[in-house]
Amino acid sequence: MVIRQERTEEFPQIYDLVKVAFQTAKVSNGKEQDFVNQLRSGGSYIPELTLIAEENGKLVGHIMLSKAHIVNGADKFEVIYVAPLSVVLEHRNKGIGSSLIKESFRLAKEMGYTSVLLVGDPAYYHRFGFKSAVTFGIKPTHEIPDENVMACELVPNALKGVSGTTDCF
Ligand SMILES: CC(C)(COP(=O)(O)OP(=O)(O)OC[C@H]1O[C@@H](n2cnc3c(N)ncnc32)[C@H](O)[C@@H]1OP(=O)(O)O)[C@@H](O)C(=O)NCCC(=O)NCCS
Repeated sequence: MVIRQERTEEFPQIYDLVKVAFQTAKVSNGKEQDFVNQLRSGGSYIPELTLIAEENGKLVGHIMLSKAHIVNGADKFEVIYVAPLSVVLEHRNKGIGSSLIKESFRLAKEMGYTSVLLVGDPAYYHRFGFKSAVTFGIKPTHEIPDENVMACELVPNALKGVSGTTDCF
């Protein structure tokens, strides 16, 4: 399996991959594929951290890491936001999702990012070191169950002393 940056000519294929992957997600609004396009056309897009997994020349997974902030009054702390993460149904439970997370986080750390936020299932994300964001004093701007809003430090103690609301969800 190869993990690499997505390419422009693959955008239509990625659109379909995300759409179909979320048809079997525990939680979905059916618009994750449009969210990908929306993120790409906004200022938070980080091409170097939007990756695909390829196996025998076929796209089997996709992950998108974008810029987001934790805001507390005049303080603004830059973080990475993970969404969406998609693996083709026939290729699940082979570690592709985990590899996309690990490789994107390695690259994010190399680029100087220190912490990551996401909304997701704790049963999946705990294994990567994610904890409920509320334990760091981080809250979304709108109502999402606390257990689903999660944060992970790429650098130890990166979120120490950082609290506030986040604009990314
Ligand atoms: C979630 C997803 C990306 C995982 O991809 P994957 O390549 O199958 O994941 P991995 O092979 O790295 O990990 C598989 C493990 O995660 C577990 N897992 C997968 N999805 C899970 C979920 N939603 N909740 C809890 N555990 C989950 C599997 O049971 C397996 O557990 P095991 O290692 O104990 O056997 C994939 O199932 C997917 O695309 N789902 C639809 C879209 C989605 O829900 N995206 C995430 C939004 S939070």
